Amino acid sequence: MSTMTNPPRTDDASSVATPAAIDAVQISKSFAVDGRELPILHEVSLQVPANELVAIMGPSGSGKSTLLYCLAGLEKPSSGGVRLNGIELGRQSRTALAKMRRHDIGFVFQSYNLIPTLTAYENVALPYLLAGHKPPRDELLEVIDHVGLAHRLDARPPSMSGGEQQRTALARVLSQQPQIVFADEPTGALDSRSGELVLSRLTDISRQPGRAVLLVTHDPAVAAHCDRVLFLADGRLVYELRPRSVSEVADTLARLSTESQEV
Ligand SMILES: Nc1ncnc2c1ncn2[C@@H]1O[C@H](COP(=O)(O)OP(=O)(O)OP(=O)(O)O)[C@@H](O)[C@H]1O
Ligand SMILES: [Mg+2]
Repeated sequence: MSTMTNPPRTDDASSVATPAAIDAVQISKSFAVDGRELPILHEVSLQVPANELVAIMGPSGSGKSTLLYCLAGLEKPSSGGVRLNGIELGRQSRTALAKMRRHDIGFVFQSYNLIPTLTAYENVALPYLLAGHKPPRDELLEVIDHVGLAHRLDARPPSMSGGEQQRTALARVLSQQPQIVFADEPTGALDSRSGELVLSRLTDISRQPGRAVLLVTHDPAVAAHCDRVLFLADGRLVYELRPRSVSEVADTLARLSTESQEV
């Protein structure tokens, strides 16, 4: 019987498309400034599949942080949609979004969500405390040691350098192992040794099954370490590279910035 031919194959996992970790379709974002809408992002579309480590580069003010905030569900795009692991952010309630942010998404933004009155250790342990679980102290101490903050356990954010705050945020992300990590210039405020450490930890996360990392950087050496580099100029994605060397990234950046000045 013809109706029996080619039944849908529901038993074969490989035939079911896995949604991209990050899938953004034509995101635009404007801010109201002095009663006028100031457009910042223009129909940005991008996909980051699981197991990718992707960098965003571009001149200061090109919209990199704004894009990261929109992709992470911290800013609402003016139009367009974002799916994280197949879940449409625009359709989630505030509570569902907050839950996703707590469990599935990690942020390494300078001082993001650090509680100023808590110590570095307590800030790293915070997700456990909020969930009413006993923090696994030895594990957390090991992670804190990994980001080079063992000597700053009892320091509180106001007395930490920007880089120390960022590494505290990183330690929290590492201890949670979220599905998708967004990192805004994670190595920007760090000396080269700490920077290498942070990059290697973020790379480790991106290599875990089903995880992905999207970072913003100004550093061609950091971008060259990533699987793919997306270049943003004036709120538009203008170029994409699978980098082979640091000089290739630096040359591309220089070429794109000359082109945008000529426009
Ligand atoms: N809340 C806001 N209200 C108004 N304008 C904003 C707001 N947030 C960002 N902008 C503007 O949007 C533009 C892009 O800012 P964004 O912080 O995304 O740039 P960036 O590429 O991350 O720059 P940098 O490399 O300096 O961090 C800037 O002109 C900025 O002034
Ligand atoms: Mg920025």
